Amino acid sequence: MTTPDSGTPAAPSWDPRQYLRHADHRTRPFHELLARIPGLPAGPAPRIADLGCGAGNATTLLADRWPDARITGYDNSPRMLERARAHTGPRLDFAEADAADWTPAEPHALIVSNALLQWVPGHTARFPVWLDAITPGGTLAFQVPGNFDQPSHVLMRELADSPRWRDRLSGRLRHADAVLTPAAYLDALTAPGVTADVWETTYLHLLPGEDPVLDWVKGTGLRPVLTALADDPEACEAFLAEYRDLLRTAYPAGPHGTVFPFRRIFAVARKEDR
Ligand SMILES: C[S@@+](CC[C@H](N)C(=O)[O-])C[C@H]1O[C@@H](n2cnc3c(N)ncnc32)[C@H](O)[C@@H]1O
Repeated sequence: MTTPDSGTPAAPSWDPRQYLRHADHRTRPFHELLARIPGLPAGPAPRIADLGCGAGNATTLLADRWPDARITGYDNSPRMLERARAHTGPRLDFAEADAADWTPAEPHALIVSNALLQWVPGHTARFPVWLDAITPGGTLAFQVPGNFDQPSHVLMRELADSPRWRDRLSGRLRHADAVLTPAAYLDALTAPGVTADVWETTYLHLLPGEDPVLDWVKGTGLRPVLTALADDPEACEAFLAEYRDLLRTAYPAGPHGTVFPFRRIFAVARKEDR
């Protein structure tokens, strides 16, 4: 099936309302990435790009930190962009672009992306292009999830590949190679005149409510399944029920909530000042 967001069979459609249901937990890595980004090169109105800006809530944190900067959030989901445009600012705007081929039209002091690149196959090929557009003293920074080998993803893939679902869902979900290892990112970013800092953190998100891991992945990792089954609500409910039962065993509710371990990989590459 095609999707209203993309027109291509494989691209997932996004739902900003569902995505924002766990905004506090999801935004924490961005705060921690932001804390490691050094000051921008001196000069009037530095240019910043936020690739895969989603609903724009993380983009506004950039505007808070650099109120003089001209900031554009880019995304390829019209629904996410519509939501992002509710955020206004004198030097803040949002535009449609595909990160797979986005090329900066002018020099940038900062190109940043939070939880985007795992959706962009072969994304390291873009690093030289983006670094080339970074001004001296400027930064390329990103965060990606490193949890594709965790039960939330493994169970989803196993179910999608099972006899009942494989005809409709096989090949739609991403595997561990959606992202690189921290060491491979360090290698991919390090270049003459560029210093990279790469690290990883595993968060233990303590989630309230019933079936919170299912609720979480409905906003992100499960989008390809929800998109593929969007025209068949009954099948969608059946898949969700099967997957929910598997998640209940993998992530049992405890006395204080459900612990959802989530590994994330961070990278900050700074171009040296001339
Ligand atoms: C997990 S959300 C992250 C949103 C935001 N950066 C945040 O931290 O809240 C991923 C976003 O990447 C966007 N996206 C996925 N593939 C993309 C691509 N090839 N080009 C641009 N945006 C893309 C999706 O539409 C979605 O809004």
